[in-house]
Amino acid sequence: MPQSPNDPIAQSRFLRACRREPVDATPVWLMRQAGRYMAEYRELRRKHTILELIKAPELACEVTLQPLNAFDLDAAIIFADILPPLEGMGLSLEFVKGEGPRIHNPVRTPQDVARLRVPDPEESLGFTLEAIRLVRRELESRGVPLIGFSGAPFTLASYAIEGSGSRHYLRAKGMMMADPRSWHTLMEKLSQVVGEYLLAQARAGAQALQLFDSWVGALSPEDYRQHVLPYSRRAIQIAREAGAPIIHFGTNTNGMLEQIREAGGDVIGVDWRIDLSAAWERLGSDVAIQGNLDPVALFAPWPELKARAQAVLDQAAGRPGHIFNLGHGILPHTPVENVRRLVDFVHEYTGQQRP
Ligand code: CP3
Repeated sequence: MPQSPNDPIAQSRFLRACRREPVDATPVWLMRQAGRYMAEYRELRRKHTILELIKAPELACEVTLQPLNAFDLDAAIIFADILPPLEGMGLSLEFVKGEGPRIHNPVRTPQDVARLRVPDPEESLGFTLEAIRLVRRELESRGVPLIGFSGAPFTLASYAIEGSGSRHYLRAKGMMMADPRSWHTLMEKLSQVVGEYLLAQARAGAQALQLFDSWVGALSPEDYRQHVLPYSRRAIQIAREAGAPIIHFGTNTNGMLEQIREAGGDVIGVDWRIDLSAAWERLGSDVAIQGNLDPVALFAPWPELKARAQAVLDQAAGRPGHIFNLGHGILPHTPVENVRRLVDFVHEYTGQQRP
C-alpha cells in the first residue's frame, strides 16, 4: 500500500520511527500483545481453539483490536501465528493443549523436502489477508498502523524439521550439517513462502511487516552466515516490493547482530541480552531499533518496572528511530495494570523529554 505524506497513518509515531524521523513521543507496542494475559482473549479461547480464531477473519480482527481498546498502543499486530504457512506447504499442524505446537508429519528426508509445496498466499493464508482488510477498516479512523508478520525461514525450518519447539535443534541443525542440499532446498522454498506471504499482507493493507527469527540465536555466527542469511535476505527482498518498512527481529543475536542487519530490515529488533546503546553502536545510526525490555520486568512492582523501562529509554537517548517494545513476547499471567502503566509511561517520559 503506497504511503502518501498526507496520510495521517503514514505520519503516525510508529511509522515515523520506522523511517527514523523525529516523533512527539516514543512509539510503543508489545510483541504478542493480543493473548492469554488478557481476560477478553481467554474468554474467546474458551469457545474456540487458537487455529479457529486465526482462521475466522472476524474473530482474528476482534482479537487484534482487544489490546488496542485496552491500552494506548501505537501499532496493532494482526492476530495470527508463525506456523499456519507450514500447513499450506503440506504439513499438519496442531496446537496441543499444555504442550505447544506439533507438526504431525515433520520434514526429515530429501523426499519430505521435495514434497513441500510453495502455494499462493491468497489461496493458503487468505483468512489472515482477509483479517488484515477487516482490521484496516477499523483502524483507519483511529489513525493506528497495522503490522503484518511472518516467521523467518530458519525459525520456520526449525518447527518443520523438529515437529515442535526444541532445546538443542538436533534434527534441524542435523539436516543443515549432514544434508546441506536438502537444507538449501527447504530454505529456498521457505524464503519464497515467507517473502510472498509478507508481500501479500502489505498488499492487503499491513503498513509494516515483522520477520520473527525467534530461535536464530541458537546458531553460530558462521552457520548463520552460510545457512540462514541468504534465505532471510531473499524473503526480505521479495517483501520489500510493497514499500512497507520491515522489522527484522531475533533473540539471542549478540553473536550475529551485524549479519542480521546485512540480511535486511529497516528496523532491527533486539532482546534484553544486549544493551540498547551497544546494539546501536554496532548497527550504526542509519537503522531503527525496536526493543528491548525483559518481559519478566512486567511482573515486578511498578517502581522497579518503571526504572527498567526508563533505563531502556535512556539508552535509546532520544535517537530517532527507537520503537519501544519488549525483547520477546509478553508472557501469560502478565498483570494487565502494569501493561497499561508501562505504555503510558513510555509516552509521558519521552513526551516530556522532547516537547
Ligand atoms: O503479537 C501478537 O499479538 C500477534 C500474534 C502472535 C501469536 N504468535 C499468537 C499466539 C504472534 C506474532 C506469534 C508469533 C509466534 N508464534 C512466534 C514468534 C514470536 C515468539 O514469541 O518467539 C512463535 C515461535 C510462535 C509459535 C507458537 N505459537 C508457540 C511456541 C505457541 C505455544 C506456546 C505459547 O506461547 O502458548 C504458540 C501459540 C500462540 N500464538 C498463542 C498466541 C496468543 C497462545 C496460544 C493460546 O491461545 O493458547
